[in-house]
Amino acid sequence: MINYCISPGGKLSGRFSVPGDKSISHRALMLSAIAEGRSRITGFLDGEDTLATMAAFRAMGVKIQHNPENEVPENQVIVEGVGMQGLLTPATALNLGNSGTSVRLLSGLLSGLGVECELVGDESLMSRPMRWIVEPLQKMHASITCSEKGTLPIHIKGGASLTAIDYEMPMPSAQLKSCLLLAALSANGRTCIHEPVATRDHTERMLKQFAYQIECEGSTISLTGGGALKATDIEVPADISSAAFFIVGACITDGSDIIIENVGINPNRDAVIHILREMGASITLLDEKIVSGEPVADIQVKSSELHGIDIPESLVPGAIDEFPVIMVAAACAKGKTRLTGAEELRIKESDRITAIVDGLQTLGIDVDEQPDGMTVTGGKMAGGEINSRTDHRIAMAFAIAGLNASSPITVKDCANVETSFPGFVEVAKTAGLDLIIEEQA
Ligand code: S3P
Repeated sequence: MINYCISPGGKLSGRFSVPGDKSISHRALMLSAIAEGRSRITGFLDGEDTLATMAAFRAMGVKIQHNPENEVPENQVIVEGVGMQGLLTPATALNLGNSGTSVRLLSGLLSGLGVECELVGDESLMSRPMRWIVEPLQKMHASITCSEKGTLPIHIKGGASLTAIDYEMPMPSAQLKSCLLLAALSANGRTCIHEPVATRDHTERMLKQFAYQIECEGSTISLTGGGALKATDIEVPADISSAAFFIVGACITDGSDIIIENVGINPNRDAVIHILREMGASITLLDEKIVSGEPVADIQVKSSELHGIDIPESLVPGAIDEFPVIMVAAACAKGKTRLTGAEELRIKESDRITAIVDGLQTLGIDVDEQPDGMTVTGGKMAGGEINSRTDHRIAMAFAIAGLNASSPITVKDCANVETSFPGFVEVAKTAGLDLIIEEQA
């Protein structure tokens, strides 16, 4: 077991970068694999989750070079696309590790592609809900099943001929939307998906990069199946979900001043910036541009006097992965911060509402847990031992809390940080965090 031991004090400074965006890296691999021709992905996230997606495509016969020797830049992937019908049935079950995004997007993509397969994952993933993606795929006549409990394993039988669907999404979810859009690529007819609230639109933006026609009008996204994707080059920006740990870290420590380079600021992903600014954070976007269809900027953050707010529910989907660290900011803010409308946090890599509440209470912070969120009263954080529940974002959020605690924090069981942020400890130390790794037998 790997634990993080963080000593308080210090400040964050300097100019640095964080690894590539996880959501965009998954999609870049998936679309490259089914495109016609060779695609080159740069800035790819070499994390366990995205490597699980890569292994799945290799198992289905796709030739992929990962960080070819002597080639710059690093984090490069070259994919020889096999076209819409070129994937092969894998010899064994596809194990997607801890990655919910891989399972949900692949379920859609593979349902109409004539591939027969079983999808499995680690202990956490095996217990996460899957029925809500399987049922709409069945409505499209996919031959797909999950377990009776509505979990993995998922079985997909090849040869189903999919029918387009007009689908009103029951809740905001980019994974469900993307799952259905990827299934729609091989369905007969025109699929229309209506979103109750906008969620990250990386799939839509990237389909356009691969020259696939897709229309986004208001809250409706539509595409007609049966077309082809044309290989292209994709530059993946740095992940705002990884940058968020240092954005909060700089806000909560005196004398901090950092610039995080080349971060994706997709308008459906940047709510962490809006929420923190509303709390009084000093965050400036520099050198804004569009790269591979996605908005990107350098993010400058200075130490800030934060105050509590009622987080608008409209901002929840756009910051869904950042709440562990946003609630650490709330613990350091003056007054109360209320989070509501975030019940989805209960079905992430862990029950994140309980994990955050427990962790902050361990540090002596007054937190009131509700079914769909929590109320945090800012105060002085003590030290203590935090159970990460093997959840990467809980582990990193409480490592950041260590900057502002009155005595050391130990975060237990941090190995899964590798799923989304390989090199977290090195980046954190370079930025100014006093963190050492403890290995426990
Ligand atoms: C993701 C969508 C989000 C997010 C997840 C990645 C994606 O989930 O929490 O980490 O890549 O599409 P939702 O499906 O709840 O939006």
